[in-house]
Amino acid sequence: MPYYRVVGEVPRKRHVQFRRPDGGLYAEELMGEEGFSSDSSLLYHRHLPTAILKAEPVEPPAASALTPNLPLSPRHFRTQDLPAGGDLVTGRGLLAGNADVRMSYVATEAPSELYRNSMGDECVYIASGRVVFESTYGALEAAEGDYVVVPTGTIHRWVPDGRVTAFVIEAAGHIRPPKRYLSKYGQFLEHAPYCERDLRSPQETLIVEGEEVPVLVRTRGGLTRLVYRNHPFDVVGWDGCLYPYAFNINDFEPIVKGIHAPPPVHQTFEGPNFVICSFCPRPLDFHPEAVPIPYNHHNVDSDELMFYAGGDYSARKGSGIDVGSISLHPAGFTHGPQPGAVEAVIEAVRQGHTRTNELAVMVDTFRPLDLGPAALSVEDPGYAWTWAR
Ligand SMILES: [Fe+2]
Repeated sequence: MPYYRVVGEVPRKRHVQFRRPDGGLYAEELMGEEGFSSDSSLLYHRHLPTAILKAEPVEPPAASALTPNLPLSPRHFRTQDLPAGGDLVTGRGLLAGNADVRMSYVATEAPSELYRNSMGDECVYIASGRVVFESTYGALEAAEGDYVVVPTGTIHRWVPDGRVTAFVIEAAGHIRPPKRYLSKYGQFLEHAPYCERDLRSPQETLIVEGEEVPVLVRTRGGLTRLVYRNHPFDVVGWDGCLYPYAFNINDFEPIVKGIHAPPPVHQTFEGPNFVICSFCPRPLDFHPEAVPIPYNHHNVDSDELMFYAGGDYSARKGSGIDVGSISLHPAGFTHGPQPGAVEAVIEAVRQGHTRTNELAVMVDTFRPLDLGPAALSVEDPGYAWTWAR
């Protein structure tokens, strides 16, 4: 995160004595990225954040193998047909991934246990329902349309209020706003489609009493359950530029042109070798002779995975794509609107249609995506041939 925040109590200077009411010292913890050469925050714990009692092995999830996209094909997966189960961490059904990023889908009502992903940042898009995200930095309420960005190493848990569905993006690195939206010191520029005011982060600390508290930790080697002597939610204050935050897709201000604008105008975040884009309701391209849906295109360096989160998709009519669908258009394949869609939307504009109400989250990866077992279990096998009908 590019800007500084302070929550709860912190001493006047960093790294000076800061004492509890009983006279003991609070335990300072520096969470820092990139070898402490990038964003960081200082957290003040009531108890030692280092005190663990046990380290237990955890069986890896059964369905975590990835399969190459061969023979090379555009794909359509129906997350609507995936079963609910687990929680927002353990219930993730793997859709696709590579060495840089993994994407999953989850539908659940169950609270998760405490979890720390030490492999990279996570961006959890809440597709439906309401959930409280609790962490060492405090709590955040999230609901439909929210991206919740969780920095690497943040101990947290998810507490749904009823059924929640989510599209989960796990990076092998950090997820940040695109550099081109920021000043050289990190402030959002005027041309950016969102800014600091649109980002929500914890407003107060969260204290939970408890002893012998298990935390599921994900590392490159697999999963471990560390048992902490005291509950990790014991932070009385923190400050810095590194913290979890939420951004609602409806706060993304679309950039619209007279003729069709290319996908980079929809970019919302960037990660290592991938980008995340938001396609939001917006006026259609307004040049009198505009073709107001995408042209056929070949993203030569990227696989494009799109999660259709809401609205309708005039460019995809006839393809079987619906809310909850995921399309994967890999490099090596040219894609575009379904046959007849261009003429149909031009005619709709002639009849007075001026807006699109599509809502979608797209992840473009710069390395090929392999396919996950959850995706393959709900694949629409006829999709690849729909342009040739
Ligand atoms: Fe595309």
